[in-house]
This record gives sequence, C-alpha cells and structure tokens, in this order.
Amino acid sequence: MRANGGIWSLQDLRDYRIVERAPSVGQYHGIRIVSASPPSAGGIGLIEMLNTLEPFELHRLQPAQRIHFIVEAMRRAYRDRAAYLGDPDFIDMPVAMLLDKAYARGLAQSIHPERATPSDLLAPPASSDRSRGDTSHFSILDSEGNRVAGTLTINYLFGAAFVAGDTGVLLNNEMDDFSAAVNAPNLYGLIGSPPNLIAPGKRPLSSMTPTFLETDDRIAILGVPGGSRIITMILLATLAFADGLPPQDWVSQDRFHHQYLPDTIQLEPDALDEHIRTALTRMGHKLTTLNRRYGDMQAILWNRKENQVEAASDPRGIGASDVFKVSVKESVR
Ligand code: DON
Repeated sequence: MRANGGIWSLQDLRDYRIVERAPSVGQYHGIRIVSASPPSAGGIGLIEMLNTLEPFELHRLQPAQRIHFIVEAMRRAYRDRAAYLGDPDFIDMPVAMLLDKAYARGLAQSIHPERATPSDLLAPPASSDRSRGDTSHFSILDSEGNRVAGTLTINYLFGAAFVAGDTGVLLNNEMDDFSAAVNAPNLYGLIGSPPNLIAPGKRPLSSMTPTFLETDDRIAILGVPGGSRIITMILLATLAFADGLPPQDWVSQDRFHHQYLPDTIQLEPDALDEHIRTALTRMGHKLTTLNRRYGDMQAILWNRKENQVEAASDPRGIGASDVFKVSVKESVR
C-alpha cells in the first residue's frame, strides 16, 4: 500500500476489530423481521418501510395505487437513511424512533393517496441537526434448522481492482459508501449527509440487508447484492412473502425502486405495464426506465408445518440454489 502511495499503517490493521451486533428486529402483519444492524441501513430501512406500509391494505389496492404507496414509503425511508444513519460507534442514531410504529404511522399519514410527494418537500438531511463481482449473498439452511443470511461486499466490480503487493488481498473501494461531502451523490446516487461523512476508524453506511422473515409456520432467508437498491429489493420480496407467494416469485418479480433522491421511480425495463405507468405519472411520479434488470437474490423458504424447503435464485444473476439431503455418514466422510 505504502509503495503505491496509500496511507494505511500497520497500526490501522492492528486496531481493526470485528464487532458483533444485535440484529434489527421488527414486525409486519405477524411476520417477524430479523435483519442487518447499523452500520447497514438495511434492517432499519426495511422495517421502517414495512411499518409505514402496514396501515394500508395493500392487497386490496389497484396495482398503481399499491405501487404509489410502496414508492412513498421507499422515498421516506431513504430520506431518513441520509438524515440519520452511519456508523453507530461514531454517531447517535434515533434507532428507536426509526423502528417505532407510531413514527411510521406519521410518515404514512404524510402520504397523499393520489399525489407523489416531491422529495424536495421532505426536510433535507443536510439541514438536520445531526451531523457486481462486488457483493455476494448466501442464504443457507441446514437439516437442524440452523440458518445463515450472509451478504459481503467489496463495493464495485473487483473492488478497487488493486492488490497490495503479493498479499493476494483484493482491496475494496468501500470509501464510496461514505459521504464524500454533504449533498454529493455517490456511485449509486445516494446523497451525502453529515452522519456518514468520512472519519478515521469509522465504518461506512451500507445498504446490505441479509434478512430472516419468521412466522409460526414459515421461515424465509434472503438477501441480494445491488448497492442502494438492495433494501427495496428485500422490501418487495418481503411483501411477496406476506402475500403467500413462493420464493421463485420473490426473486423473479419485476422490480421498482425509489431512494428519495434522485426523485424518480427507477423501473426495470419490463416492470409495470403502460396503464400503471400512466397512472403513476398522473399522480406526479417521475419514472426512469433502466436499461437493464438488477439484482441477484438468493432465497429459501422453510415451511415448518409441512417440513418442506424451497430455494430460489434470481433469474437475472449467476447464483444457484439447491435443496439436498446429506446423510450424517456422508457428511462425516
Ligand atoms: O454495502 C453496500 O451498500 C454496498 N457496498 C453494496 C454494493 C453492491 O451491492 C454492489 N453490487 N452489485
């Protein structure tokens, strides 16, 4: 690193510690959500969006109306991501507030049923008092019910595309997950905000959302790469789980995303038919059709009542899933 102009010291490496943290936990219509803790915005973002959506009877709504409410929940949660979230070892975050159903009820009430809220109307985070081959996800369940939802990231494709000397260690470029400056967007267009400004020893704010969904008879394990869109992909999968759909539908459904700024709904090329797009435009939403589909979700559903396991991998990605039996003898050998 030094030979190449880097600023790391041996002391930095000595001082680095892995920290074990309690997951973020929430409830949505009887589903227990167990997901990533800060410094990822994943768990808090997911639970805040679900709490905001809970008062609406989503399954009764016309598609455009349903998407409108989901997008408005996304917009508000991503605003709060920028306003409040960062490394818990450095900043105080109002986690209890962000996970509180009463707070989400207030957010829900601020949603006009027929009009998009321009992101500019929501208080900007900067004025707050508080200051591919890139990310991989594994979902694993064993025959004893042990489970893992694990997402790891080096950020961009091949990280910094740099190996320090002959260490063989590919360096990440996680620095882009920090805010370089207030209001400066990063690669994913997430705006920079005070809580996530760079400081020595600080960890960058992430969007990784490895998640368990739990009801009395069903357990889901899921996660996905995809930068800022990770949290909303897990939201759409959670809503599909809540609707009783199978894992193949969670991973393959068309996706849409809103992240507060830029103030537009990002759509996969085939997502939402023309009349839904028109209805959303009439409500004041801006739409941006992306030139490709995104995500590589890996999901498992364990139906505990019927003791059945289904696994599904995103048709967009390179992941694969399987359910197989290994006898004890075989696994020892
Ligand atoms: O932790 C984060 O939010 C980012 N480093 C994730 C980057 C990512 O998912 C890129 N993969 N497609």
